[in-house]
Amino acid sequence: MRTLVRTLTPAVALLLLTGCTDGGTGVHGKPGSAGVRDPLFRGLGNGGYDVQHYALTLAYDPDTNHLKGTAEITARATQDLSAFNLDLHGLKVDGATVDGKEAAANRAGDELTLRPHRDIDKGKTFRTVVSYSGEPQTIIDEDEEKSKEGWLETEGGALAVGEPSGSMAWFPSNNHPSDKATYDITVTVPEGPLRVISNGELMKKVTTGGRTTYAWKSRQPMASYLAMLAIGEYRPTESRTSSGVPVLTVVDPAVGTKHAQLIAQVPEIVEWGELNFGPYPFSSAGVIVVPNDDLGYALETQTKPVIPVKELPDSLVHEIAHQWFGNSVTPRSWKDMWLNEGFAVYAEWIWHEDFDATPAKQSFEAAFADDKNWAFPPADPPSAAKVSDDPVYYRGAMVLHKIRQAVGEKPFFEIVKGWATEHRHSNASTADFTAYVEKKSGKDLTELWDTWLYGKDKPDTP
Ligand code: ARG
Ligand code: ZN
Repeated sequence: MRTLVRTLTPAVALLLLTGCTDGGTGVHGKPGSAGVRDPLFRGLGNGGYDVQHYALTLAYDPDTNHLKGTAEITARATQDLSAFNLDLHGLKVDGATVDGKEAAANRAGDELTLRPHRDIDKGKTFRTVVSYSGEPQTIIDEDEEKSKEGWLETEGGALAVGEPSGSMAWFPSNNHPSDKATYDITVTVPEGPLRVISNGELMKKVTTGGRTTYAWKSRQPMASYLAMLAIGEYRPTESRTSSGVPVLTVVDPAVGTKHAQLIAQVPEIVEWGELNFGPYPFSSAGVIVVPNDDLGYALETQTKPVIPVKELPDSLVHEIAHQWFGNSVTPRSWKDMWLNEGFAVYAEWIWHEDFDATPAKQSFEAAFADDKNWAFPPADPPSAAKVSDDPVYYRGAMVLHKIRQAVGEKPFFEIVKGWATEHRHSNASTADFTAYVEKKSGKDLTELWDTWLYGKDKPDTP
């Protein structure tokens, strides 16, 4: 210690000796970490702060695929901060401020580091504004299908989807499911047939000087991977559930009218969800049905899932079920993804039981027999590339069926509802889930978890 102190400048030595981290200089914080140690996606998210609200103000030109944006991010510091990161892929940062004062901005890969004029005290709420522009990019996933996410150019418009990482292609964020926030997404496009659709409710649509601005509001917290933006010549239809939830279904005219009757059933599917999973968690519901060329898979984007027409009808129930499981109760880390997909697939099985005379037991046995569902345990995907693979979906659903068998019919549905209610609008992990089921059922289910959730090997019998 003595030699160390001697080699330091007197001011720093004084800080060390007194334990005071400021010393009147205004410098006391440390940089927030780049990443939140997600076991599968190391770089995603950032440490040191917790976002409350994103206000995105964007202008898009579909002719040139040029996006100009301002992201105003309200966050609370969870440590004394000298600098912090946001996740941003591509695009050019034109400037940044923190609490109204210019902040130094540095880019390295998908990490944007901002160094505010003054350190931010732990517990303080601060406002960051990032101005950016450029051509937003499509991100290719590591999965086998090489799924596209991020920013997708479509016939005459664009579609932005973000599971697991794509939101950083169109706005800077704390891009990890563990940091949920409310959103205002305001987008200006050229006046004409194009409409702008996003999560939540439309607050305003104004046309001036040849441009139309749409303002969408998400009042309930949302994970960044569920943020969505769709720009196209869509046909919207408004309706309402019997419980009073406003429903907006949006269809690309290229899809045709073949599925109109099915799409009109969205309010009933939401009502069926309420019966099984408890109150609908958001202030609106809906769906966007797009041509198969626009997107290769369906995604449960908050309040309005995006569904390519080839995924109808099954994914309608699946994506609506995600509003409870995944969107309202959100995984703490990407390893907990089976809590999304297991429940969404199990919702399909319950739907088939209720309406197609196919007992869940039969769906369970079919999934059990299929070897591709046994590649790895659902609660332990071996890599980021496998997070959307079959075991996460179908072994995930099998876990739920085993719980149903173990605890009985009535307790099972109470557990399903109770889980959605208890963790409404927050995050939960696999350990939270197993503890919850054991507490509610009063049963020790260690063996069930070891075999069905964490076990590598397929049991001899279903
Ligand atoms: N979560 C979506 C669903 O099951 C599927 C997303 C697939 N995404 C991917 N990048 N492979 O509804
Ligand atoms: Zn799903």
